[in-house]
Amino acid sequence: MNSESSLPENIVLIGFMGCGKTTVGRELQHRLGYPLVDMDHVIELRTGKSISEIFATQGEAAFRDMETNLLQELQDPTAPRRIISTGGGVIGREENRALLKDLGYVVWLHAPTSVILDRTSKNRSRPLLQTEDPAAIIQALLEERMPLYQSAAHLKLDTAGLCSDEVATGILECARYFFTHRL
Ligand code: S3P
Repeated sequence: MNSESSLPENIVLIGFMGCGKTTVGRELQHRLGYPLVDMDHVIELRTGKSISEIFATQGEAAFRDMETNLLQELQDPTAPRRIISTGGGVIGREENRALLKDLGYVVWLHAPTSVILDRTSKNRSRPLLQTEDPAAIIQALLEERMPLYQSAAHLKLDTAGLCSDEVATGILECARYFFTHRL
């Protein structure tokens, strides 16, 4: 495990579906010029399947194994600095939470249920929310996951009412402080 002083200078975005990880990741990529690793996207490219297809044909547990394998693979001290955007459920496994903390500065993007519901209702790409009552699922999963996001994150940012540009600015200021003062 890394000691804080040898922590790689990656920025890792965690948080519930619809909290803006992908959009903010792209904004950070644009500002910093670092490569963006969107974990869901990498898994889709490698399997040749959408996340929904993976859930339907191989099951959620197989998808969670893919996430853990990818997090292990990302622990490469020789890799250039990166922005890493994760799927909302990556914090479910204790092993993953430790791997995340070893990857760099972990930022938890948060938003209230109403905002998440509004943002996620615009497409059907999230298998966990394809139910009669997505609001109830969001509420239940949020309750279960909040302490897990909390324990995995260095910083929590509420994205409701903020554009990706403002969120990115907040992250960069805090990340600079973190990487400068951690020794
Ligand atoms: C999931 C979130 C999704 C994706 C999968 C499962 C979750 O990613 O990994 O559908 O368990 O919250 P986003 O958070 O990018 O939507």
